[in-house]
Amino acid sequence: MISGKTVVLGVSGGIAAYKAVDICRRLIENGAHVVPIMTSGAKRFIGEVTLSALASEPVKSSLWEGDDPIPHTTLGQQADLILVAPATARLLGTYAAGISNDLLTATLLASRAPVVVCPAMHTEMWEHPAVQDNIRTLQNRGVFVVAPEDGKLAGGDIGKGRLASTQSIVSTVERALFPNDLEELKILITAGGTREPIDPVRFITNRSSGKQGYALAEAAVARGATVTLVTTVDRPAPTGVEVLYAETANDLRSVVMSCAENHDVIIMAAAVADFKPSSTANRKLKKSALSTNLELEPTHDFLVDLGAGKLPHQTIVGFAAETEELEKNAIGKLKGKNLDLIVANDVSAPNTGFAHDTNEVLLLSDGDKREVPLSTKRVIADSIFDVVLDLRKNK
Ligand code: CTP
Repeated sequence: MISGKTVVLGVSGGIAAYKAVDICRRLIENGAHVVPIMTSGAKRFIGEVTLSALASEPVKSSLWEGDDPIPHTTLGQQADLILVAPATARLLGTYAAGISNDLLTATLLASRAPVVVCPAMHTEMWEHPAVQDNIRTLQNRGVFVVAPEDGKLAGGDIGKGRLASTQSIVSTVERALFPNDLEELKILITAGGTREPIDPVRFITNRSSGKQGYALAEAAVARGATVTLVTTVDRPAPTGVEVLYAETANDLRSVVMSCAENHDVIIMAAAVADFKPSSTANRKLKKSALSTNLELEPTHDFLVDLGAGKLPHQTIVGFAAETEELEKNAIGKLKGKNLDLIVANDVSAPNTGFAHDTNEVLLLSDGDKREVPLSTKRVIADSIFDVVLDLRKNK
């Protein structure tokens, strides 16, 4: 997808600079024309020759050396995209403040191209309010931020701050270059928890707020898809989305099954009740008439039907909300329901899952696993679509 595009790859001075070599290679393999810029800090971590040998042009690092008297404007105008990986706290701070004190920051300021920054630093630095403010400033200006992951850091520490995977970075580059990458797709998304009535007043439900399903709908329309949202909750839907309402597992099933075959991607984010009352009273049951035992019967798991009847053009995505053995249980559902992708989250972890604005998920497909660290549900949604696109490319 990125073939023929000019990507300015900025490398700033952190231990993760060595990973820029892999990113550069991946961009080149995908056909991009890569112009590397290294800060003086980056050169302390990796050799200039390494990047020069792999990239499309030799490394540039000075505003003052070389034939071009204005290298920053030349690079800024040539670039279809500027990628900074790794982006240190200093780089993010100077860019957010509009200070140009080296070739990389000058190029960032002298360009109208989309920008992707990939922060990598120690946890304390990443969590510092100054850094977080700078990240928000950049995001508000439309800069794509690929959040760092949890893992081993320099000096043997473990925590958040590791540079995101090359795969996530390249996916974000593609999305920044092609904002309408879902344009051709008709996407069906379900959202919210179903309500299974006992009588006109009482029902059985679950903690699902529908936020992740709505974030998926928002991301999908923003990326050009035609979106149908089947929801059990009454929240304002993003403009351009067709909204259909359902209340019970049975309603949801009939709405989804009636339009499933017209959709290329089906994402079952709804928390569908696994059981419903065996009978529903027409009138409010009096306390005295209510048995202490509520008789339940299983609902039909129609994600199984969607998986079994999957059409060649379809990609089916399920969710797995777990409180233990996350990966094992999710893989069981991926295989058992013949899904292309399962979004697994540990709903007992802090700030994740039901009703929160953030989530932390594992995206599992056949032979591939991607971890999305604690992020907004919109970021999770975009990561899900990045994987869906990769899966469809490899189909
Ligand atoms: N699902 C469905 N119909 C149901 C129940 C679930 O379509 N009656 C879908 C959900 O939308 C979700 C996925 O199946 O995408 C996983 O649901 P979950 O309840 O977590 O999994 P189960 O297979 O029911 O397993 P368990 O409840 O035992 O964990």
